[in-house]
Amino acid sequence: MARLSERVRDLHGSPVRAMLAAAQSPNMISFAGGLPASDSFEDVDLPPPPKSLLQYGPSEGEPALRAAVAAELSRIGLECPPERILILSGSQQGIDLAAKLHIDPGTMVGVESPTYLAALQAFRFFGARCRVVHRNNPAHNWSAKARPALTYVNPTFQNPTGYCWSAAERDALAAACDAHDVTLFEDDPYRALAYDPCERTPICARVKRAPWIYQGSFSKTLAPGLRVGFLAASSDLFPHLLNLKQAADLHTNRLGQWYALRSLQDPKRGERMERLVSRYRHRRDAFAASLTRHLGDVADWAVPAGGLFFWVTLNARIDMTLLLDRARKAGVLFTPGEHFLPYPSDDLPSLRLNFSHAGELEADRGLEILGRLIREAMENRKRTPRYEMAAAPH
Ligand SMILES: Cc1ncc(COP(=O)(O)O)c(C=O)c1O
Repeated sequence: MARLSERVRDLHGSPVRAMLAAAQSPNMISFAGGLPASDSFEDVDLPPPPKSLLQYGPSEGEPALRAAVAAELSRIGLECPPERILILSGSQQGIDLAAKLHIDPGTMVGVESPTYLAALQAFRFFGARCRVVHRNNPAHNWSAKARPALTYVNPTFQNPTGYCWSAAERDALAAACDAHDVTLFEDDPYRALAYDPCERTPICARVKRAPWIYQGSFSKTLAPGLRVGFLAASSDLFPHLLNLKQAADLHTNRLGQWYALRSLQDPKRGERMERLVSRYRHRRDAFAASLTRHLGDVADWAVPAGGLFFWVTLNARIDMTLLLDRARKAGVLFTPGEHFLPYPSDDLPSLRLNFSHAGELEADRGLEILGRLIREAMENRKRTPRYEMAAAPH
């Protein structure tokens, strides 16, 4: 028997990644992942990269890409020199590095509820005790003795809710982190996918004293298969993050970095982004109309101002495992909301539905099926009252 570390005792695979395999089958309509539209890749130019990039490269990342990222961040209000930009193997790696840097077994970590499930997965892996951070009162219950080492937020078009924090909410969290010396970790992969105007200036740009990490990704605007993301960090954290990156994978693959840099330097980038945003805005609006048509009587949701997800809350309790099973058999996938919760909750069940991947007709068909299955489950529940007890979450 292999003797494994304590750390992996509570290690579970991501439910979304498990569903990605099922989503590949040709007739499956998937609302489950956070996948960009496959046809968005048609706009991506892929010339052969220079062969010199086949050699090892710097752990920090390619200098030209770091400079281009620093310039981008300055444009959105976050000043950070290229020397404090670290190119990542996808922004998921930033979550791993930030967790390694801050979390020992039992360390308190602030998170939203719901929050990005793969961040919860990483934080739990290192033994974090997650505590919910409330937007309207972020420092609630923080004291010199009990405060998170790290607070993780995804404030712009959040995965899974699509919510975008107001200026006042952003200011309040920055002030709370400053006052209590809590590292602010801002994860921002969706900021460019804005369909309606809203406040997007990073919270890290508002921090005055606290340590901070801001990260972004090329996955949602260019191609997730390239696995390129980046982080910027305060000067006290950056050297540690760099050392952890070296230990993890030496450096991010240079071919992916080259394509990411080309996309930033492409004179047609603005046009490409406008096309992408307008395509997704259209999909979001069509999705909202289909939701109203097929789930209007059984669920509530807010139309997201950006990002890739609808967070749909049912207006009665049903067994979500059973619903997912029936939906899968009927050719539709979604992600049950419970996976995004730091703690089990008695709230009504939710579904996270991605609207960027499926085409509009396909999405309408999928939502029709989902609406029918939800209605059936609610009817069954009325007929068999014991069902409700069995379905209550633990
Ligand atoms: C909030 C958030 N952070 C990080 C990631 C990881 O993205 P990537 O590693 O592809 O950059 C995702 C992916 O869906 C995400 O939704």
